[in-house]
Amino acid sequence: MITVNRIGKHCGAEISGIDLSQPIDDDTFAQISKAFFDNEVVVFRDQDITPGQQVAFTSRFGTLEPHVRKESRLSGHPEILVVSNIVGDDGTPIGAQDAGRFWHSDQSYKREPSLLSALYAVEVPVQNGKVLGDTEFASTTAAHDALPEDMKRRLQPLRNVHSYVHYRAKNRRAQLAERERGASEVTEYELSESQIQTVPDSEAPIVRTHPVTGRKGLFINEGHTSRITGLPRDEAERLMTFLCGHITSPEFRYVHRWRRGDLLMWDNVAVQHKATFDYRLPLRRLMYRTTVRGTAPF
Ligand code: SIN
Repeated sequence: MITVNRIGKHCGAEISGIDLSQPIDDDTFAQISKAFFDNEVVVFRDQDITPGQQVAFTSRFGTLEPHVRKESRLSGHPEILVVSNIVGDDGTPIGAQDAGRFWHSDQSYKREPSLLSALYAVEVPVQNGKVLGDTEFASTTAAHDALPEDMKRRLQPLRNVHSYVHYRAKNRRAQLAERERGASEVTEYELSESQIQTVPDSEAPIVRTHPVTGRKGLFINEGHTSRITGLPRDEAERLMTFLCGHITSPEFRYVHRWRRGDLLMWDNVAVQHKATFDYRLPLRRLMYRTTVRGTAPF
């Protein structure tokens, strides 16, 4: 029997009473799945799991989607994306160094964007007893519900374009600016033409219905949205700025303070997230991420 304790106002719960390294029967899995979709972000504390066990548990929610950044996949486990600031002896990053710089939901640029992600904390950076590198979440469903009715009506027919190429260009500009200020040493792999071809832009409704819960949420984010279709540029920019600011306002946020051994799962339809880069080597952060494929937004 699992126990579920709410830890955030609009999203976030801790699930206890489960050891994810052990087989989970169908009844217990159904309880976990319900708690997950009800709470949008859940954490299982003090887990000691292998990459294979993370893959086995998270693939019960659906098909795992290997990330386009194939250099950052875990050797022997292509479904796992390594998220880390660690570099090898030859200076090569062992994983994605700055995943989550902007508010986003994972793989929102895909025709079938990710349903959910799970991030397992292998190493967390600690300074003077304080864990750094929080991950912040914002509930897009609570943000949608809080909009005035006339804004909900205005958004109903609108669609926006999610673009990985747009994100990479934006990320690259931010990286260069940081390097010039001496604030970061992050270097990213260039994507090859053939990798880019696997992630064409895709268009989706701004108001999206959750395929499991039926709740409506706002599917637009500062990391991946390149434009709103059919609106004059100025009006589209103003609306994007308003919506992205509204979704990520403190009211709708849950901030996750990590512990080593956390397996944190989030619903990519119901929340957006953003990483906090307040640590640098020699403080090390090592996370393993699995991502479950979703369905076309409607
Ligand atoms: C991500 O955006 O998937 C990574 C979040 C984090 O490292 O905190």
